[in-house]
Amino acid sequence: MSQAVDEIKIGGIGASRKRVEDNRFIRGKGNYTDDIVLPGMLHMEILRSPLAHARIKSIDATKAWDIPGVHLVLTGEMMATRNLAWMPTLSYDTQAVLATDKVRFQGQEVACVIADDPYIAKDACEAIVVDYEPLPVIVNPCQAVADGAPVIRDDKENQPDNVIYDWEVGDRDGTDRAFAAADLVSKLELHYPRSHPSPIECCGSIADFNRATSKLTVYMTTQAPHIIRAAVAMVAELPEHMIRIISPDIGGGFGNKVPVYPGYVCSILASILLERPVKWIEDKSGNLISTGFARDVYLKGEMALRRNGKILAVRMHTDADHGAFFSDAQPSKFKIGLMHSAFAAYDIPVAHLTARGTYSNKAPGGVAYRCSFRVTEAMFFQERMMQAAAADLGMDQAAFRRMNFVPDEAFPHRTPFGFLTDSGQYAKCLDVGLKAADYENFRRQQAEARSRGRLLGLGISTMTEPLGAGNSREYDILGIKMFDSAELKVHMTGKAIVRTGARGQGQGHETTWAQIVAHELGIPAEDVVVEEGDTDTAPFGMGTYASRSTPVAGAAVAMVSRKIRAKARKLAAHLLEVSEEDIEWELGRFYVRSAPDRGVTIQECAVAAYANMPDGMEPGLDATAYYDPPNLTWPFAVYIVTVEVDPETGVWDVLNMVAVDDCGVRINPMIVEGQIMGGLTEAYAMSNMQFITFDADGNCVGANYMDYLLPTAWETPGFELHSEVVTPCPHHPIGAKGIGECAAVGGPAAFVNAVLDAIKDTGVRNIDMPLLPDRVWEAVTYRRDVSGAPPVRSDD
Ligand code: CDP
Repeated sequence: MSQAVDEIKIGGIGASRKRVEDNRFIRGKGNYTDDIVLPGMLHMEILRSPLAHARIKSIDATKAWDIPGVHLVLTGEMMATRNLAWMPTLSYDTQAVLATDKVRFQGQEVACVIADDPYIAKDACEAIVVDYEPLPVIVNPCQAVADGAPVIRDDKENQPDNVIYDWEVGDRDGTDRAFAAADLVSKLELHYPRSHPSPIECCGSIADFNRATSKLTVYMTTQAPHIIRAAVAMVAELPEHMIRIISPDIGGGFGNKVPVYPGYVCSILASILLERPVKWIEDKSGNLISTGFARDVYLKGEMALRRNGKILAVRMHTDADHGAFFSDAQPSKFKIGLMHSAFAAYDIPVAHLTARGTYSNKAPGGVAYRCSFRVTEAMFFQERMMQAAAADLGMDQAAFRRMNFVPDEAFPHRTPFGFLTDSGQYAKCLDVGLKAADYENFRRQQAEARSRGRLLGLGISTMTEPLGAGNSREYDILGIKMFDSAELKVHMTGKAIVRTGARGQGQGHETTWAQIVAHELGIPAEDVVVEEGDTDTAPFGMGTYASRSTPVAGAAVAMVSRKIRAKARKLAAHLLEVSEEDIEWELGRFYVRSAPDRGVTIQECAVAAYANMPDGMEPGLDATAYYDPPNLTWPFAVYIVTVEVDPETGVWDVLNMVAVDDCGVRINPMIVEGQIMGGLTEAYAMSNMQFITFDADGNCVGANYMDYLLPTAWETPGFELHSEVVTPCPHHPIGAKGIGECAAVGGPAAFVNAVLDAIKDTGVRNIDMPLLPDRVWEAVTYRRDVSGAPPVRSDD
C-alpha cells in the first residue's frame, strides 16, 4: 500500500536542501564561458578609447595586421560596410559597436583584433594608432542640459540636445493641492552615485559559426539568452532558428549581464568572416570601465505633512545620467524603470514624479544592479526622505513609519503612482525588527552615550519591491511581452527534467525548481534535474534579472507540474479502474476516495504513461506551461542598523544589523537567507566603500579594485536575520514572492540613516554615498552636508 510522502523528506517546499549546483562549483568543476575550448578557436581583444569625448580623425591598423598570428583587425569603418557599426539597444536607442565618427566615453570600443592567442591580440591592439581630436566633455546631467552644451549624440537624427526622455507619472494638480494644504513641507536632495555590479566573472562570448550548416552557436555570459537570440537575429540579420545561444555557468550577473555588448557582436562577426570559433573574454578593468553601470541618479523631492505626522503627498524629481547610450533593458512603458514604486508601502493619497534622462560622456549605465529597474534608487530616496521628515516633525522614526504604513486589511492597495500591491504585514515586520534591535533600550543608551561625547546612531529602512515583471499587459522589452515558461518531462522511471526560460547566475535555481516539482508532484527533488540557459532546448523566457525568476519562471514550474498531475490523474483512474471523479490526491499518490487504501504513486503513473496508457490517450508525461503573472509580487522588509561614529576620524562601525524579510512562502529557507546576506553585504559596500566617479575630463576615477572595493568577509559586519513574518502572495501558485534583491535594495538607506542619526546634533541632512571617513569627518567638523556628485569637490 503506497502512502503520501513527507514533503520535507523529499526536499519539497520549506526544505533547506543543500544547493545541488555547489557540488560542482566547490570542486572547481563549474563550466564557465572561459572554460570552454573549441577546436581551432581564435581569441579577440578590444582596443578602447583613452578619451571620453573625441573625434576620430584616423585609425591606422597596418602595424597590427603585420604581427604574426593576427587573423583579423575589425574597425568601425569595416563594421559599417556590413551595417554593423551601430546596433539597437534594449531601450529603443542605438549604440556604437565600434566607434566610427567619435568616441563618446572613456573605454569605448574602437577596434578589435582576432589572433592565435589573447596575448598576440592584446599586443596588436597596442600597435593600432588612433588620431583623436578631443572634444568638450559632459559628466553630469547639469552640464548635459546647460546652454551651449555639445550634443553628444549628433549621430542621431532628431536629437537636438542631450535629453533622452522627459517623463512624468502621478497626479500633478492633486499633489499641488495637497502641498498647499500642508502644515509642514519636508525636503531632501541627494545623489545616488554610480555603482558597478562587478560580478566575479567578467563578460565574454565564444561565437562559432558553421558555414556548412549555416548555424551560429554562441556561448556567452548572458542573463537572458532568448532575448540575446532575438537581438542577434536583428543585428546580424541571421535567421533566428539558426542561432543557438548557450549561457553556461555564470559567475554572477547582478544586472551587468543583461545588455548586449559590442564584444558579443564583434566576436560573432569575426567568426562568420573567419569561419572559426572566436573567443572574447573581457578583463577586469574592461568590465569595470565599460560595461553596464548602475544608479547615477540625482533625486530631489518633498513631502507634504500634517503636524500629527500623516503624509499628505509626495513630489519627486529625478535626473538620471545614462552615459553615452541608453542601453539598459527597460520596460518600454516606464522610462525611469520602476522608480515610481517609491513610497508604495505608505498610505499616501497623492503623488507626482517627473524624470529626465540625459546623455553624458560616461560608459552606458542605468542597469538594474540587483534590483527591479531603478527600485533601489526609489527605496533609497523613500527611506532617506522618511527619516528627514520624521526629524523635521520631531517624531520618533519608528512611530512615524508605523502610522503611515498601508494597513494589513487594505490589500490589494493602489499606490498613488498606480501600482497594485498584493499583500503584507508591514507593522508586524517593524515590530519584530524593533524588538530584535532592542529599540527603546538603544535609544536610552544613545542619549547616555551622547552626554559623554560618543556618537551612536540607529537607522531604519523599509522596502517593498515590485518583483516579477511582468504581466504582459504592462511590461515588455522591445515589444516582447514579459512572461516566462517551464517544460517538464517525467521519464518512465518517475525521474524528471525541468527546463525554464530563466537563467540563474548563482541563485540556486537547480535546487529550488526541483523543490517546486517535489511539492506539486511528490517526486523527490533529487530525482529532478534542472536545466536552463540553452535556447535550443529551454522554452522561451525573458531571463533572470529583477528577481523575476521565482515570481514568473518558478510559477511556471508549479503550473507545468499541475498539468502533469492532471494527466497522471487520468492514468491513475485507468490503473485503479475507477472514474477520474472518484480519485483523490495526496502528495505523491492518487487514491480511491471510497477506499483510501487503494492508490497508485506518481511514479506508477509515469510507468503507465509509457507502458499502460488507456485507449486513445497520447503516450508520455511531458508538458510546457507559459506563465503570464496577473500582477507583480511585493515582498517587504525592515532593516535596522546601529552604528558608532568616531568624530575624530569619521570612521563608523556597525554595532548590529537586524533584517526582517517577508517574501511570502520560502521555497528553500537556507537559500533565501543566503540571498539576504549577499544583498546586505552589497548594501553595506555601496554605503561605505564603493567609489566610482569621473573627473572633469571624463576619466573614470575608481576604475580598478584598489579604489572600487569589493567587500570581503573581513570587513562585512554580521547580520541577524528574522523569518517569522510570512505573508503568502495571493496570486502566485505557491504563494512565493521574489527575494534575491530585497536586501541590496533596502539595505543602503539603513546604513546611511544610522550614520546621520548618530550625527544629528550637527544639523547635517545628507552625506552622499559612499560614506567614506573623510566625508563623515567633513560633515561632523564643518556641520555641513557633503555631496559626492561629479564633478566632485575641487580637492578631489
Ligand atoms: O530571479 P532571481 O533568481 O535572481 O531571484 P529570486 O526569484 O528572488 O530567487 C532567488 C533564489 O531564492 C532562487 O533560488 C529562489 O528559488 C529562492 N527563493 C526561495 O527559495 N523562496 C522565495 N520565496 C523566493 C526565492
